[in-house]
Amino acid sequence: MSDLVLPHGGKLVERLIQGSEREALLHQAQSLPSLVLNEWVLSDIEMLGIGAFSPLEGFLREADYDSVIDRMRLTNGVVWPIPVTLAVTEGQADSWKEEVDLALRSPEGEIIAVLHQPTLFPYNRMVESKLVYGTTDVSHPGVARVMAQGPYYVGGRVSVLNLPRHPAFLTCRRTPAQIRQEFHLRGWKQVVGFQTRNPIHRAHEYLLRCALEIVDGLLIHPLVGQTKGDDIPASTRMRCYEALIEGYLPKDRVLLVVNPASMRYAGPREAVFHAIIRQNYGCSHFIVGRDHAGVGKFYGPFDAQRIFERFSKEELGITPLCFDNAFYCRVCQGMATVKTCPHPAAERISLSGTAVRQMLSEGKSPPPEFTRPEIAEILKEVHSQASQVHAGS
Ligand code: ADX
Repeated sequence: MSDLVLPHGGKLVERLIQGSEREALLHQAQSLPSLVLNEWVLSDIEMLGIGAFSPLEGFLREADYDSVIDRMRLTNGVVWPIPVTLAVTEGQADSWKEEVDLALRSPEGEIIAVLHQPTLFPYNRMVESKLVYGTTDVSHPGVARVMAQGPYYVGGRVSVLNLPRHPAFLTCRRTPAQIRQEFHLRGWKQVVGFQTRNPIHRAHEYLLRCALEIVDGLLIHPLVGQTKGDDIPASTRMRCYEALIEGYLPKDRVLLVVNPASMRYAGPREAVFHAIIRQNYGCSHFIVGRDHAGVGKFYGPFDAQRIFERFSKEELGITPLCFDNAFYCRVCQGMATVKTCPHPAAERISLSGTAVRQMLSEGKSPPPEFTRPEIAEILKEVHSQASQVHAGS
């Protein structure tokens, strides 16, 4: 396993507690004051539990929070670009007892974790929004979430006792340690990770192919936590990824595993965050294309690539593989970027998400130069089912 890149911060920190220690904590937790978690926080707890957020041990306390939003580092200097926090309301803060352990429960009341010796602190929503998302505009989904949540954070180490239950994609749910073991068994040393929250199209496929030319294996690692309402649901996307692998990629060089994280849409900072998560899963390389983790026009198309220049190889063990905007060129008769294609823009086919949605709503397939026909079929089928349900409701 030593052939693989080390986890971020040096070792995997899995906060999922098992065996007799878990039993004892579960017993104690019954009598602790409780906090009920929402889906967003549950996903962060899962990431902490399985080691995907290594080296974090829990929700950030005030000094680390300030350091992360100001300088993208924990107080010990380790690179960490996105605050992982637990917000509470004014009312919850009023009944607060400092440093008394808390039982964290699911909305159904199940004990998920214990938060040890938590500390409470106020934070400034505008400052966090500006520093993390680069804007205070509430049309940004990340900013809207920060603005809507409670005005205090509680920080502390968590012991995860029950991972959130997910009936979906069971065969694709694996922990970083399990994936590292799988890479090892396959003899992969250099592995490229691919983050996505969209149905896979030919520009994505082009990046995957280019990357596969230079490494041993590919981890297709779609994010399946919360996304904004108009993003395509994970269940549809998973069918698309499977269709691409089935029809077009060498199966022995590709693994499809879900990333249970929620989407922040924090552009450059989230690109670094995404890379760190993939390093924890054992990836040596990470694909960063055009407007990675972006939304609307909040970030420049290559801001998420430039941010990596701020960190040295010692600070960030994973190497970004940066790609220019990819498109299909009619003259080249293939996928390319401006780095490889000399033809004018009029010869290039690339479609926006809005244009694709428009085509689907008219019952049309996106062209094969944009999406593989098998994937276009899945999108059309799901779209027509959704419109029927909509029409019937
Ligand atoms: S993301 O929010 O997860 O980044 P998406 O699933 O669309 O969104 O993108 C996955 C990866 O592919 C990102 O690294 C993104 O920058 C890259 N990408 C998407 N479309 C293109 C394109 N046409 N050219 C180059 N890179 C692209």
